[in-house]
Amino acid sequence: MDRKKVFDNGILCNGDALAVLRDLPDASVDAVLTDPPYSSGGLHAGARRVDPAQKYQQTGTKRVYPPMLGDCKDQRSFTMWATLWLSECWRLAKPGAPVLVFSDWRQLPAMTDAVQAAGFEWRGIVVWHKPSARPMLGWFRRDAEFVVHAVKTPAQAFSRRCFPGVFNHRVVAADKVHLTGKPLPLLVDLLGVVPEGGTVLDPFMGGGTTALACIETGRRFVGVELSADYAELASKRIRQAEISAPSNTL
Ligand SMILES: C[S@@+](CC[C@H](N)C(=O)[O-])C[C@H]1O[C@@H](n2cnc3c(N)ncnc32)[C@H](O)[C@@H]1O
Repeated sequence: MDRKKVFDNGILCNGDALAVLRDLPDASVDAVLTDPPYSSGGLHAGARRVDPAQKYQQTGTKRVYPPMLGDCKDQRSFTMWATLWLSECWRLAKPGAPVLVFSDWRQLPAMTDAVQAAGFEWRGIVVWHKPSARPMLGWFRRDAEFVVHAVKTPAQAFSRRCFPGVFNHRVVAADKVHLTGKPLPLLVDLLGVVPEGGTVLDPFMGGGTTALACIETGRRFVGVELSADYAELASKRIRQAEISAPSNTL
């Protein structure tokens, strides 16, 4: 794909998040909603270098997805790298902008550190309960992922609704185009705290789920994705979503 694609509801750049974010203007987005590579799957660098298809899929899963990039950092470099791109997000965010960053249980402490080191005020943790998670014989089932919630101060509520702290959404294999793709209804729910009509930044767009949720809810998106395969896949899904939901075109 071209490095930058322009859609009716936003843009998607195929490139490295840090490099792309550095070129965007100050205070230009109303929220950040993103699902970065977790670099999870073990305590040491060796365990993290394992193919993400092995780390994040249940044994026996046959479906093959394009390779997921950037998922092999050790603990210290993961935290430093997250602080770098989150600092760019802080510069790009308007005052009051909510920030929502996915994490798993292993990387949660690193991500809450990075979010605060970047300048945001940490407000809490949202739980994504995944009833479809794999069972753990003799152990507690790891059936949750987490969303670190922070704001660029001063904090501001953009909705008069009260939102739950736990969302229950199953991963539907047939809907997935990305190895670690998130359910669209989950992202739609999370966008409830984002100003209506606002622009949402996702530096790790993957298969484009954040963009689809923006289109569905009448928000705009600015996305970045390093993998040309995933950027292409996301582009196709965005075009299809814009055809199906023309009334939301801003
Ligand atoms: C967890 S996935 C996002 C999945 C997405 N939420 C979805 O539902 O499809 C993270 C994505 O970040 C991309 N990525 C990794 N390193 C990157 C970087 N430095 N800049 C931009 N994208 C990157 C990976 O290729 C991967 O597609």
